[in-house]
Amino acid sequence: MALRHTLRQFSRKSCMFSPRLLQARNTSSSAESHATSFGFRQVSEEQKGKLVGEVFESVASKYDVMNDLMSLGLHRLWKDRLVSKLCPFPGMQHLDVAGGTGDVAFDVLEAINRVEQRSLQVLPAEADAEDETRVYVCDINPAMLEVGKQRAKKRGLAGLPSLQWVEGNAEHLDFKDESMDGYTIAFGIRNVTHIDRALKEAHRVLKKGGRFLCLELSHVSMPGFKQIYDMYSFAVIPAVGQYVAGDRNSYQYLVESARKFPTQERFASMIADAGFQDVQYENLVGGVVAIHSGFKL
Ligand SMILES: C[S@@+](CC[C@H](N)C(=O)[O-])C[C@H]1O[C@@H](n2cnc3c(N)ncnc32)[C@H](O)[C@@H]1O
Repeated sequence: MALRHTLRQFSRKSCMFSPRLLQARNTSSSAESHATSFGFRQVSEEQKGKLVGEVFESVASKYDVMNDLMSLGLHRLWKDRLVSKLCPFPGMQHLDVAGGTGDVAFDVLEAINRVEQRSLQVLPAEADAEDETRVYVCDINPAMLEVGKQRAKKRGLAGLPSLQWVEGNAEHLDFKDESMDGYTIAFGIRNVTHIDRALKEAHRVLKKGGRFLCLELSHVSMPGFKQIYDMYSFAVIPAVGQYVAGDRNSYQYLVESARKFPTQERFASMIADAGFQDVQYENLVGGVVAIHSGFKL
């Protein structure tokens, strides 16, 4: 327990938030709206949930290969960056929402195992058979979770108490208040109908000192690069989706939904409005994706 406490302290210190605070701005709540965007289309809120469900049911079996193709493998580095910011530690209670096929959860568990192995070399007496580490993969779509469970089996992670698969909605999480040390959501939040509700839920389930991290497709502003990126997104990605997954429309939606997602600054404001502090973001590849972070203090 002493080791766990030390690791926790170390993890917290090395992942301390910087003093740069972004000011919360007024945001309008999409909870009041009855129409919302599904890509470039306006649909009712009920329709959006159904359509998003259909997209991920359709792409689930090809999701991972498509991720590698669309991002040219970069999504792995982006997820590594996300997890390195989280500073996972043994005993951590972590929730990965919209966790899909498990990439982020696997990375979190591997990071925890590395810390544990290192610490056991130094203090072997601290080995704890009943490790309380819990990494929950929560996703609304059973097809995505099923692919994730199969992948966990291949990695030898199936049946571990530290890895739990939960079907659930980011807007109404079935987890207790202040029960999580960390919350991640990767390429998930733009699919959620009420982003503000999902952010409030993230805040609710985090313990004080817990960290929220979101990796999401974002906005490129660099002239020249923006044109190239737009061309790649709208011409190449749906075509690859058609060729590899036999589903052009789902990938057209993925591209469009990224363009409809709030800008980096606006999303930072929404996170602050949900109650998070020290809200920051980091652009990767010129803003193709951004990692937003906030603390519950
Ligand atoms: C693009 S995938 C991301 C999967 C995984 N996080 C990754 O980075 O590879 C988006 C995921 O969000 C899930 N999702 C969409 N709406 C959701 C909601 N309201 N609550 C929970 N998960 C949701 C989908 O089922 C899908 O698995």
